[in-house]
Amino acid sequence: LSVNRIAFSRYLALREYDTEVEGIDNTMFRAIEWIDAAADSHIRLIDQTRLPGAEVYLEITEVSQLIDAIQCLAVRGAPALGAAGGYGVALALLEAERKQWDADTLTATIDALANARPTAVNLAWGAGRVAAVRAAGFDRALAEAHAIAADDERSNRELSRLGADWLLARVGDRPLRAVTHCNTGALATAAWGTAYGILHELHNRGKLELVYVDETRPLLQGTRLTSWELHHDGIPHVVEVDGAASSTILRGLVDFAVIGADRITANGDTANKVGSVALALACERRGIPFVVAAPYSTVDEATATGDEIEIEERGDEEVLAFGGVSVATPGVTAFNPAFDVTPNDLISAIVTERGVVEPKADAQPLFGPGPATN
Ligand code: MRU
Repeated sequence: LSVNRIAFSRYLALREYDTEVEGIDNTMFRAIEWIDAAADSHIRLIDQTRLPGAEVYLEITEVSQLIDAIQCLAVRGAPALGAAGGYGVALALLEAERKQWDADTLTATIDALANARPTAVNLAWGAGRVAAVRAAGFDRALAEAHAIAADDERSNRELSRLGADWLLARVGDRPLRAVTHCNTGALATAAWGTAYGILHELHNRGKLELVYVDETRPLLQGTRLTSWELHHDGIPHVVEVDGAASSTILRGLVDFAVIGADRITANGDTANKVGSVALALACERRGIPFVVAAPYSTVDEATATGDEIEIEERGDEEVLAFGGVSVATPGVTAFNPAFDVTPNDLISAIVTERGVVEPKADAQPLFGPGPATN
């Protein structure tokens, strides 16, 4: 990857100058941005593999670099992958012109981008949405990619208000204690966040006491990324090992759990970062809400149930090494599914910008042509 290092503090200062937002919060940065430049318009990513130790930006000028960045999780999180898919197709159109690709090469490149990771539906959805207008030219394609990012921020802010309203009505209108898994904030989206957005909204209303952040093995999205965002946003939190989460719930230390989603099927089954289903099982036993939050772009109406979701399996080294140092007996192999599926009957509420559905109470299927939330 062509890496262009920019001190994050300097970048933040520029953003602060450019925007009207007061203080440092997670509206101050973008995980993914389109950079307009006369000769080489391109995509800029925060390299999430380096956070929080180093604040490094990747200047992405070719689709193959973007695919690398997606696969190594420099850019990650379902809605951010949707934006990456969209901007990636715009980038492909520029690259095709520069390198004089024929139509088949361009199509194959877009397909490779759309399939760079299999579980989050948003990636192929975003690439498909922009590819559908590619015949109208680069400007139209870029406008569509910008629309994906703008829609995502709008959706996230709306679902955050709806989720906070639902929780305060359901659990009690008082400062609440939460547990969350993985990273669902601005880093995982075009802006603001999903499950994180609900926590941020509760915090802004003075209704959030404490967040338990699962470390999220093996790549530590909770420890490295969610905690980084919560710190910048001034939201009280503690990081716990994933193995603590069920007990935290059963001991009554939290009032609810909230997670994001990589794919929600028509019946409400939800794929999210591996470890999510353990929270759902414990919430069911304790009798507290387990809430899934996602923009509607994460709903896959065409897939009936979670059994049909392809679960990404990643390399052994992510599990068997820690900080780059092998911690396992030489020759041992790993099982490393990146996601799990929570069945709909363990989910109290699915919150999208279109409204809140309650899988335990509502008739199936929940999503698709016909259901009231569409
Ligand atoms: O492997 P990752 O880091 O891309 O996994 C991300 C998650 O599982 C998130 O919880 C999900 O994409 C929702 S992001 C708003």
